[in-house]
Amino acid sequence: LKSLFVSTVSHDLKTPLTSIKIIAELMQQKKDLPAAWLKEYAELIEGETDRLTRLINNVLNFSKIERGIKDYNFSTIYLNDIVRNTLRIMKYQLKSQNVTVKMSLLENEEPVQGDADALTEVIINLISNAVKYSLERREIHIATWIEKGEAALSVQDFGIGIPAEKIESIFEPYYRVKSERAERVSGIGLGLSIVKHILDAHHCRIAVKSVVGEGSTFTLYFPLESNEEHSTP
Ligand SMILES: Nc1ncnc2c1ncn2[C@@H]1O[C@H](COP(=O)(O)OP(=O)(O)O)[C@@H](O)[C@H]1O
Ligand SMILES: [Mg+2]
Repeated sequence: LKSLFVSTVSHDLKTPLTSIKIIAELMQQKKDLPAAWLKEYAELIEGETDRLTRLINNVLNFSKIERGIKDYNFSTIYLNDIVRNTLRIMKYQLKSQNVTVKMSLLENEEPVQGDADALTEVIINLISNAVKYSLERREIHIATWIEKGEAALSVQDFGIGIPAEKIESIFEPYYRVKSERAERVSGIGLGLSIVKHILDAHHCRIAVKSVVGEGSTFTLYFPLESNEEHSTP
């Protein structure tokens, strides 16, 4: 497992590094590059650097979780803000992967108690997976709503889907569903185990609905403060 981990991480680190190097070479070879090209190169470098950062954050987070030293800073937050911030961070990746995001965010939503950075990592992981496991229909739907005293947030894709009997396992560290398609996209299988840990710390449930070949929906249910007050005598 360890050697597989090292080789996959190294591979995942190498891809963005290779892109950055190619761009740097292009910039040196060609004199007097048009401003529009320079802008595009700069965007590429920024996007690839973001990708590296996300990868390293996941590994660091996982290592903190494993050593039991991951801590959380809770404050009053709005899920819509987390979604918007995450999309800003992932703008480049979504653009380069030709993915459109459709949002239906609840207006006047109620706040929840959460660690904004940790929840951003959660949404980044869910959206990254949605992108990675999408097929021809390159679309992601994100919604927030309130249901039975809980604040809900869903991330839906129209990709390869997950076989029902595998859904439980995908939250285990290093677990990846074996399929021809999944083997072509790289990954270490840590994302969802981190997601699960962070959500547990938030007393947040996660539900997965998926149909093979049609797509998957990951839904998070956060306890609402207003509801907790009602339920405590
Ligand atoms: N949106 C999705 N569509 C299809 N399969 C998914 C999706 N999200 C996760 N999976 C499956 O769950 C596995 C574990 O996900 P994750 O922990 O994020 O690891 P990784 O993305 O590095 O493979 C993936 O390898 C994939 O098989
Ligand atoms: Mg992942």
